[in-house]
Amino acid sequence: MPWKRRPFTGRDLSAALNIADLREVARRTVPGFAFEYVEGGAEDEATLRGNREAFAALRFVPPTLIDTEGRSLATQLLGTPCGAPLAIGPTGLNGMLHPQGDIALARAAAAFGIPYTLSTLSTTLLEDVARQAGGRLWMQLYVMRNRAIAEDIMRRAAASGFEALLFTTDANVFGSREWDKRNYRTPGRPRMRAVLDTLRHPRWLTQVLLRHGIPRFRNIEAFLPAGAASAVGGSTIIPQMFAPTITWEDIAWVREHWPRKLLIKGVLSVPDARRAASLGCDGIVLTNHGGRQLDHCVAPIEVLAEIAQAVGERLTIVIDSGFRRGTDIAKALALGADAVMIGRAALYGLAADGETGVRRALEVLTVELDRVLGQLSCRTVGDLGPHLLRGPGIPAAR
Ligand SMILES: Cc1cc2nc3c(=O)[nH]c(=O)nc-3n(C[C@H](O)[C@H](O)[C@H](O)COP(=O)(O)O)c2cc1C
Repeated sequence: MPWKRRPFTGRDLSAALNIADLREVARRTVPGFAFEYVEGGAEDEATLRGNREAFAALRFVPPTLIDTEGRSLATQLLGTPCGAPLAIGPTGLNGMLHPQGDIALARAAAAFGIPYTLSTLSTTLLEDVARQAGGRLWMQLYVMRNRAIAEDIMRRAAASGFEALLFTTDANVFGSREWDKRNYRTPGRPRMRAVLDTLRHPRWLTQVLLRHGIPRFRNIEAFLPAGAASAVGGSTIIPQMFAPTITWEDIAWVREHWPRKLLIKGVLSVPDARRAASLGCDGIVLTNHGGRQLDHCVAPIEVLAEIAQAVGERLTIVIDSGFRRGTDIAKALALGADAVMIGRAALYGLAADGETGVRRALEVLTVELDRVLGQLSCRTVGDLGPHLLRGPGIPAAR
């Protein structure tokens, strides 16, 4: 008889052993259209799958017989102490998963001493996140054709004490997430199937929709045409407002409005990384937007080593896309990343149970990372290096 393995069926998050278990709770908790919004990738989802497959191509070569008692995940990020080499990445529409989703994410990040990045398309005002959550806050910037929107975001984020700006450069031509689109008859009008499925999620209906109404793009609401501020209608209208005209020349314009740390989110090549460094940026985020933009795109982990070699001394290197395990994070740190940004892994926790769920996701990832450090005979994240890995493009250590 073949042994049948059982997926996680519980609701008790302390019994959820890994991010896949949290994803399972999230899937059962929120309506299908909301889960699909989080889950989906662009077109054939080759990039989405590739992000996970790329980790499998890298394998550890662990040294042995080294004392690792007293291990620590503590590190420095942008010159400031950080509880772990992690940050929560920017995701729009978090209020669709849980009421006050942005505040729940930011509070959980603060509890772990790591930064939270608020999206331009957040459903909470950036001022409210700063007031109610605290901790280290980064602001993500989308630039729309009306540049006054970006200037307003930068001015307000600076006034509210945000530490860094992440200028997203890979979504100005918006990706086609087809599974997500199929939930709507026309933009903003859900199909009957999606409506019936939503009715089968009474907890979500009461907590999110009935108590708080359809989430809105609070940060940029003042600039939006009628009907575009609601998450249901706006999520298709707003991407059409993005500016495909942004170029490297615009870094100077961003710098005029943003006095603090600046990271470019969307770099995947050595020439672009060098350009960011030469323009005085503080860091880069290697990303393919979690497979939601260009299909058949390289996974950031595949280009990390060459980029770290080229600019690692000059720039803070953050990486995201596909990170679900402590082993994934350890591989990126070993190849030269300063930190890993968590996208969907945090959102699964949020959808499962708000701040408690996000804390559980961060606990799972940090416990796993600490265990991997030990198994790799490392005491600190600084002990990780390419000598611990075998895989495409990595020379064998002597
Ligand atoms: C639901 C969702 C919404 C997102 N919204 C934004 C956004 O508003 N701005 C942005 O720069 N990136 C956005 N991203 C991309 C994430 O910041 C990040 O690059 C990606 O999620 C990392 O991949 P992972 O989800 O596999 O960890 C979003 C991703 C998801 C899943």
